[in-house]
Amino acid sequence: MAAVLASALMLPACRQNTGSETQETADTTTNQPTATMKVTRESLGTLTGNAEVEMYTLRNTSGATVKITNYGAIVTSIQMPDKNGNFGEVVLGFGNVKDYLTNDYLSSGPYFGAVVGRYGNRIAKGRFSLEGQQYTLATNNGPNHLHGGLKGFDKKVWQAQKIQGDTTAKLHLMYRSPDGEEGYPGTLQTSITYTLTDNNELRIEYQATTDKPTIVNLTNHSYFNLAQDSAANVLDHQVTINAGRYVAVDKTLIPTGQLPSVKGTPMDFTTPHAIGERIGKVEGGYDHTWVFDRTGSDGDLFLGARVVAPASGRVMEVLTDQPGVQFYTGNFLNGTFRGHGGRTYVKNYGFCLETQHFPDSPNQPGFPSVVLRPGTSYQTTTVYRFSVQQ
Ligand code: GAL
Repeated sequence: MAAVLASALMLPACRQNTGSETQETADTTTNQPTATMKVTRESLGTLTGNAEVEMYTLRNTSGATVKITNYGAIVTSIQMPDKNGNFGEVVLGFGNVKDYLTNDYLSSGPYFGAVVGRYGNRIAKGRFSLEGQQYTLATNNGPNHLHGGLKGFDKKVWQAQKIQGDTTAKLHLMYRSPDGEEGYPGTLQTSITYTLTDNNELRIEYQATTDKPTIVNLTNHSYFNLAQDSAANVLDHQVTINAGRYVAVDKTLIPTGQLPSVKGTPMDFTTPHAIGERIGKVEGGYDHTWVFDRTGSDGDLFLGARVVAPASGRVMEVLTDQPGVQFYTGNFLNGTFRGHGGRTYVKNYGFCLETQHFPDSPNQPGFPSVVLRPGTSYQTTTVYRFSVQQ
């Protein structure tokens, strides 16, 4: 059934929205509902030292909005309609960028909405070798390296450029990661393009080049809750993941190398299941990588996952070209943070679908490669598409 869904919804990765695009430098737009796509910019000053931190709002013609700050390339807010046409928040985050900089936030590390890299997910003991050379990365998650290290891409100020078209609103973010940063080899020139379309899709395009062989695995760490007005958590959200296998992990969440079948286990989301239905049978809750059943050729996007919130009727589909997805059910949230609408982010208040390569791939010869070499380009696309059903 999931495979049928996937092939029915196959989209070309290079699909571009048409319409003339003009690059804007001046802040002449307002944040009002409008008949055209809008990208607006607000300066927040130099929150982190010398670079200017900004907040951008992408708004489509129906009034859906996405807010992104150039600090950490963080998606701070996404407002989408419910089945009654009421717009509401669908991600976890803060209205004030300063709240992403507090000691509590940094030490707890939820990574709300951020781009994580150079390597999203874990690398065992922070070590890997590439072309005969050993590299050591920071170990910031027990014995392991997680989400790019102590000061990963989620804590960098990116250089932003807004691009406004007739049918799309885009934000282009660039970051040059120096050779040796967080222990990774090579200068990595990275860019992320966020696009809000008139079909209520948030499209994320990642691109990177290097001047030495290195490893890359970028993803977005948004937590979604599609019914924040009525739901105490996301346990009633119905999830489908188009994946017949998952990545088995040890106690420190490092892969064993096995990719067991989901059949007959609480990991089987090939047909829709409420998150809460079997979560109690999975130690710690869901926090694993699912291995997509790819039915498309390289460069095609396919439907990786679909989530429905019964209370609001909101639906989110995840289309991607990546081999896997980390489905994480906010198991480490503990009520420390209050975010949009004053809501307290308790355990399981949000879920993440982080499209990516598998954890610890640099040390797992059987996994798809995450090596990037000079002269080649890392390019990947993920689309979060929102709609409603009655
Ligand atoms: C997820 C990861 C979790 C946890 C979380 C951040 O990507 O799978 O184990 O580290 O990030 O709190």
